Amino acid sequence: MQAPRLYVSLLVLAGAIQLIQAQRSQPQDPGPRKGPAGAGGFYPTLNTNERAAFANGIAQFVQKEGVPDTPPGSGNGGLGPGFNSDSCSSCHAQPATLGSSPANNPQIAAASAMGAINTIPSFIQPHGPVREARFVRKADGRADGGVHNLFTIAGRTDAPGCNLQQPDFAAELAAHNVVFRIPTPLFGLGLVENTPDYVLIANLRAKSDRKSDLGIEGRFNTSGNDGTISKFGWKAQNKSLNIFAGEAYNVEMGITNDMMPNERNVIMGCIFNATPEDSHSAASNGISDVDAFVDAMRLSAPPTPAPGNASTESGQKLFNRVGCALCHSETLSTSPSTLTGMSFVVYHPFSDLALHHMGVGLADGLIQGAAGPDEFRTAPLWGVGQRLFFLHDGRTSNLLEAIRAHASAGSEANRVIDNFKELSPSQQQEILEFLRSL
Ligand code: HEC
Ligand code: HEC
Repeated sequence: MQAPRLYVSLLVLAGAIQLIQAQRSQPQDPGPRKGPAGAGGFYPTLNTNERAAFANGIAQFVQKEGVPDTPPGSGNGGLGPGFNSDSCSSCHAQPATLGSSPANNPQIAAASAMGAINTIPSFIQPHGPVREARFVRKADGRADGGVHNLFTIAGRTDAPGCNLQQPDFAAELAAHNVVFRIPTPLFGLGLVENTPDYVLIANLRAKSDRKSDLGIEGRFNTSGNDGTISKFGWKAQNKSLNIFAGEAYNVEMGITNDMMPNERNVIMGCIFNATPEDSHSAASNGISDVDAFVDAMRLSAPPTPAPGNASTESGQKLFNRVGCALCHSETLSTSPSTLTGMSFVVYHPFSDLALHHMGVGLADGLIQGAAGPDEFRTAPLWGVGQRLFFLHDGRTSNLLEAIRAHASAGSEANRVIDNFKELSPSQQQEILEFLRSL
């Protein structure tokens, strides 16, 4: 071997050793937990009828929809004119049906299914998160905040003559007018829905001294009509699973229903069905698709964490000690329930379901109910161990980056993140191991 080559190889080797040492001393997200999905089944105490309702709900949840609604009112069809994907389960898929964004983005295939002629916006990538797009402002400068559909049914063989155009996402992006949301997981949401306000209020008031020392406040989003706490969505903007399901059917898929009876994007030549496309009608045996989706979500079991070990247990103690658990509350409990075995359930969402100011770094500029431009609901961390994408816009797949993004001017989490950064690399690592066990 020639001398210079040997020298170069030695240098490369030394460099590699240094890199490995540096990586050892830096905490690293171990990545999504392998093995079977710890979620996706029904709540274990349910009776036979309830289990059957769950199974029917899942069957509707995974159904891919086309444009013609046959028979009318059944919800078998009704896609478009605008849509973001063509089944609930395409977006809510990881690590099992009802979950969050899968590894391969189904929006790519949905964009051209059955001959549709959509351009894929730059923020939709084959291995990126499922995203919906919201505009901050309307063309006239007023606040918008609504979802703008990525795709249209134009060109589909089951939508002859429709030529609805997609919004000009490139222009809106250039104008800094587009923000994103990724799907939240739906496991165990019957427990969340049945958690009474007094439990949430007491939980938010608890540990008030530690919270105020660390600059943590928090408040609830509430329903404009009955004044009770609303809990669903990244800004806790929606009151119930029923409302969310009805809205998702129309907003994500363009399917009108009893909850949201009017078409969005109405233009001549693109309306193929009478409304509502899904209903408690005779055609659907009395149960609507929206009811079925609610059954699937409400009757589902929460995610099962992996068995603990020394490092995850130590990680959980540190998670409490630095103050993560002041927002990501470990335990909540439900009210009496009409569902078998779902009364007074003590469960572990790792969220207070309250809104917190998260600073300029996470702010999306949208106002939804009481939630202001930089306020978000504490993201529930149950099931995070098997998730692929994090934060409301899916900006990272790395838990460490998700944690660091909590710190920026105006964030209630700043002092907690300072505490986190003062931990040794191996202690930070234990927190990451704990999160990946959830
Ligand atoms: C194109 C992808 C997509 C499809 C299709 C979709 N969703 Fe979602 N889902 C989302 C996104 C994005 C969010 C977060 C929305 C937000 O908070 O702004 C979400 C949130 C939810 C939530 C709130 C859960 C929580 O805890 O906050 C529910 C409930 C829900 N979806 C139900 C459904 C149902 C039922 C369907 C089928 C009718 C459906 N979704 C179809 C993307 C999708
Ligand atoms: C002040 C309240 C608060 C504190 C303290 C806090 N978080 Fe969060 N956390 C949030 C909110 C709100 C979000 C959602 C932010 C967003 O998506 O923009 C979030 C999101 C997350 C996510 C991403 C979850 C998802 O669904 O994408 C992880 C992981 C996380 N937090 C871990 C931690 C850890 C670990 C700590 C402690 C070092 C911590 N958080 C401290 C409020 C808090």
